[in-house]
Amino acid sequence: MRKKIVAGNWKMNNDLNESIELVNEIKKILLNREDVKVIVAPPFTALDRVSQLLSGTNIGLSAQNMCYEDSGAFTGAISAKMLKSVGCEYVILGHSERRTLFGETNSDINKKFKKAISEGLIPIFCIGETLEERESGKMKKVIKKQIKKGLKEISPENFEGTIVAYEPVWAIGTGKTATPEQAQEVHAFIRKLLKEMYSESLSESTIIQYGGSVKPENAGELMGQLDIDGALVGGACLKADSFANIVKNA
Ligand code: 13P
Repeated sequence: MRKKIVAGNWKMNNDLNESIELVNEIKKILLNREDVKVIVAPPFTALDRVSQLLSGTNIGLSAQNMCYEDSGAFTGAISAKMLKSVGCEYVILGHSERRTLFGETNSDINKKFKKAISEGLIPIFCIGETLEERESGKMKKVIKKQIKKGLKEISPENFEGTIVAYEPVWAIGTGKTATPEQAQEVHAFIRKLLKEMYSESLSESTIIQYGGSVKPENAGELMGQLDIDGALVGGACLKADSFANIVKNA
């Protein structure tokens, strides 16, 4: 059985002091839960300190992005090695905000995926369609392209253990959640694609999270669907109690 994984993507919120406060509260409520894996993804500036505060706990640490280059003249960029050096285990790749606001392409995300794997970081690989793509009937085509291009030349061995996050763009930060049935349909489609690309056992063992306006009130029903193995939470992870309630409802 797949263990549920709930990750909180803090996005561009919380300065250092606020980050320390939030992670301390999360620790108090969620320390050492065995049934659900909990991950937090603070901004770069708080990773080092949050990592120290999480040391000795089973709460995982993720970055929100990284560069596919190792080092050099890439002003403003952060490498996988740098993330490892501050204790990151995971990295969110291809978030729709990176794709739409910062122009990241499927090919950029593929390069990042390869680099993350080679440095021992676990990608949380995000995909999802816009409202226009859904309404014009292109949803599955878009998802398939994101998966095929994002995972191009990634071997089964390298794909194993990585996390996929389905985040319909129209549900992110809008308060509009996909219904459990809508989300389940896409999750099952993603799992089928992974089976075709890799194998049944690999597709069956892959964690596919749902993201997009997940709240304590809808978390249980969403994560109760057959192919929904956790959540990638934005707004509702910025308060420890609402994040903790999502974890409890998983
Ligand atoms: P919201 O939960 O705020 O909709 O954000 C979802 C998300 O983008 C998580 O990565």
